[in-house]
Amino acid sequence: MKIVPLSKAKYGMVIAMDVRDTTGRVILKKGTEINESIIYLLKKAGIFNIPINSTKIVSDLKKETEKHGVISKENLDLNYNKVKDLFKNLENDGHIDIDTVIDIASSIKEDLENNYSDKLFVPLKKLRDFDEYLYSHSLNVMIISSLLAIENKIIDDELLNISISALLHDIGKTKVPKEIMNAPRPLTGEEMNIMRNHVLYGKKLALENNLKDENIIGGIYEHHERYDGKGYLEGKKGSYITKFGRIIAIADVYDALTSVRSYKGPWTPYKTISFILTNVEKQFDGTFAQGLINAFGIYPAGTRVQLNNGQFGTVVASNRANKIRPLIKIDHGDIVDLSEEKSLRITKVLDYIYIE
Ligand SMILES: [Fe+2]
Repeated sequence: MKIVPLSKAKYGMVIAMDVRDTTGRVILKKGTEINESIIYLLKKAGIFNIPINSTKIVSDLKKETEKHGVISKENLDLNYNKVKDLFKNLENDGHIDIDTVIDIASSIKEDLENNYSDKLFVPLKKLRDFDEYLYSHSLNVMIISSLLAIENKIIDDELLNISISALLHDIGKTKVPKEIMNAPRPLTGEEMNIMRNHVLYGKKLALENNLKDENIIGGIYEHHERYDGKGYLEGKKGSYITKFGRIIAIADVYDALTSVRSYKGPWTPYKTISFILTNVEKQFDGTFAQGLINAFGIYPAGTRVQLNNGQFGTVVASNRANKIRPLIKIDHGDIVDLSEEKSLRITKVLDYIYIE
């Protein structure tokens, strides 16, 4: 059992013991599953902390998302461990094991090609330890960039190359001191310059390791350029930024905003997608941003929603043919495909739960 502040309470948690109000009256029975309307009632009753048990409901949701998973859980975990080893070696001696890079990129590419369909769940690696951010972020950016590429008809060797470029996009950060990397505060001007230079360090590292493909280098060096020319290091604009740079920029921002960091909480994928859409043609290339919506939908998996019939549910897969009508697991109910149930629609976006 854990005591959780009500502000952290989420759908999927189960009440571990009876919750009483100040008069001793039981207002919530042991075993009750939390949802947004219960959280609202508890708030009104002046309850600030609740006892909860592990989240059985999330494992039920996992079973549903796995049916549409574009990468298997086993492959995600396996490749995560490979990414970790790759970066740890790189941190030690500046050596990039190219065979491992190709092995990881090929394995993810193969899963994406075999499992890509109209109903999609994209599993990403959840950050569990701040020190491991670079590893999970690199893997996630590789997966997202590959999806954006597939949505834009990029195939074969070019798809493999963008996966490689995305996996290595932040290798330059291994040259940035840890105090700057993990600073739980805004950086000073000088620290910011060092941080920004990670794209240059990354390009150098890649060249030193005989990675000479100019598209791969472009993704590493230009993933912080912005469509309107306000990015770094060169301040390049629009299509002067390499295609890989423009794709990885979107994947990078999506994963960074949805992840928890030492200085900020995670944004929900719904909020992040809205942010990226709002900044199309300012920060991001619209064509590739559209690919993000195609793959994740407007309401990515894990988004808690309410329907026009009052029911609550959780999105378990996007629907590539209809971005605002995903597959939803109704609480205590069945899966509803909104692209078939035309009388139903999403009226409210609530919380978000991470399904890995
Ligand atoms: Fe970066």
